[in-house]
Amino acid sequence: MDRTRLLQVFSEDSIGQDLTVCGWVRSRRESKGVAFIALSDGSTQETLQLVVPAESPAFTELPRCNTGASIRARGVVRESPAKGQKIELEVSEIHIFGDADPEKYPLQKKGHTLEFLREIGHLRPRSNTFGAVFRVRNVLAKAVHDFFQGRGFMWVHTPVITSSDCEGAGDMFTVTSLDLEDVPKKEGQVDFSQDFFGKRAYLTVSGQLEAEFMAMSVGDVYTFGPTFRAENSNTSRHLSEFWMIEPEMAFADLQDDMKLAEDFIQFLCTQVIEKCEKEIAFFEKFFKTISLSQLQDLATKEFYHISYTDALTQLEKARKKFEFPLQWGLDLQSEHERYLTEIVFKGPVVVTDYPKDIKAFYMRLNDDEKTVAAMDVLLPGIGEIIGGSQREERLDMLTKRMKASEIPLEHMEWYLDLRRFGSAPHAGFGLGFERLVQYITGMHNIRDVIPCPRAPQLIKF
Ligand code: 4AD
Ligand code: MG
Repeated sequence: MDRTRLLQVFSEDSIGQDLTVCGWVRSRRESKGVAFIALSDGSTQETLQLVVPAESPAFTELPRCNTGASIRARGVVRESPAKGQKIELEVSEIHIFGDADPEKYPLQKKGHTLEFLREIGHLRPRSNTFGAVFRVRNVLAKAVHDFFQGRGFMWVHTPVITSSDCEGAGDMFTVTSLDLEDVPKKEGQVDFSQDFFGKRAYLTVSGQLEAEFMAMSVGDVYTFGPTFRAENSNTSRHLSEFWMIEPEMAFADLQDDMKLAEDFIQFLCTQVIEKCEKEIAFFEKFFKTISLSQLQDLATKEFYHISYTDALTQLEKARKKFEFPLQWGLDLQSEHERYLTEIVFKGPVVVTDYPKDIKAFYMRLNDDEKTVAAMDVLLPGIGEIIGGSQREERLDMLTKRMKASEIPLEHMEWYLDLRRFGSAPHAGFGLGFERLVQYITGMHNIRDVIPCPRAPQLIKF
């Protein structure tokens, strides 16, 4: 089909050109015998004003050009005499692809609440807000690859179905082809040896362990794929299916890891500032939860660093009464994280050296034998966006930690092999992609930054 995307119409000098555009009608109005249609095709934040003079043969199609109808329009681009837009299309032909009954089309021009739009997840990408969110998401996804490819990292494809529990937290979805009406049992337990893979399989919570063996062969790698958590967290920051980016570097320590994390976040932010000017302006104007200057700060200012122990001291000094207790050895809760990043530092913070017992078995034990070489990056409004660590590369130490964490060693011999043969210091982290999109767009709820959110009791489509 002969079709010019609106992004192209707006970004090139198209005045005087005879063009065909396709899209969905946002609105239509008539004034002094001339009809005006605002057309959107999702390629840009802007709508193109179609001007249909009464003498145009297209005029007869107008009654069908209702909000939501999909149309093709041909015409000449000209400078717009009206305020608020540079160009418009003087239309000579209109073709209707699909009508939308104005009595029934749920997405009318008036502003809808995000809650309402969540109910019509299949139509919400047509709205200004969600078009903007998904364009920003796309720019960020490309930027992820540009960042790592530009630094010589290899993109590795770790499995979605796995037999290992990376985080050891036990919140995994089981993948099975057993007949649920007639599950085979042995000694009172489900007999997974009769299941599809001959043992129990899960949806992955993280590609880290597999990324580690790739890093231990080819150096620097990263994953970018969906991960799954069956935790019953009905919050504005948790999804049951989310995308994670996990770089893993060979011959690297915690310092290298933190540097990579900061460079990464700043690069992503810079790319959005460069490529999503209109979208950022939109979020700033309509939601007021993020601003260009905040993004510029994130892209340029150094991150604060603090150890878990010092962070605890800071929190104890706080005048705020927290719901969860503060005690060395207990994990920081989201209220603590947000206090640190929003009130104490008013910017991104990297918290390091957490007590070993609240962190995963693979993190490297520090010389104090109480803490591990871990780091979490916290952002205002979001809390934890990155979790990472230097990995335990010493066989004896790792074995001890795994036993203490009750990780079944017999399933993890391959992981220990990496420490038996040519072990090397290595480090990596995981960034929750949706939390990043959330921060950058200022969307309050994580369910509004992914097309099909999955959460407890929520699986539409
Ligand atoms: O801190 P997490 O659990 O770390 C890992 O999975 C490590 N294996 C990463 C690594 O070192 N390679 O998760 C990493 C990040 C979190 O900081 C958060 O941004 C995001 O993943 N995340 C979630 N995002 C949305 N919904 C959830 N339920 C999430 N759980 C974690
Ligand atoms: Mg974490």
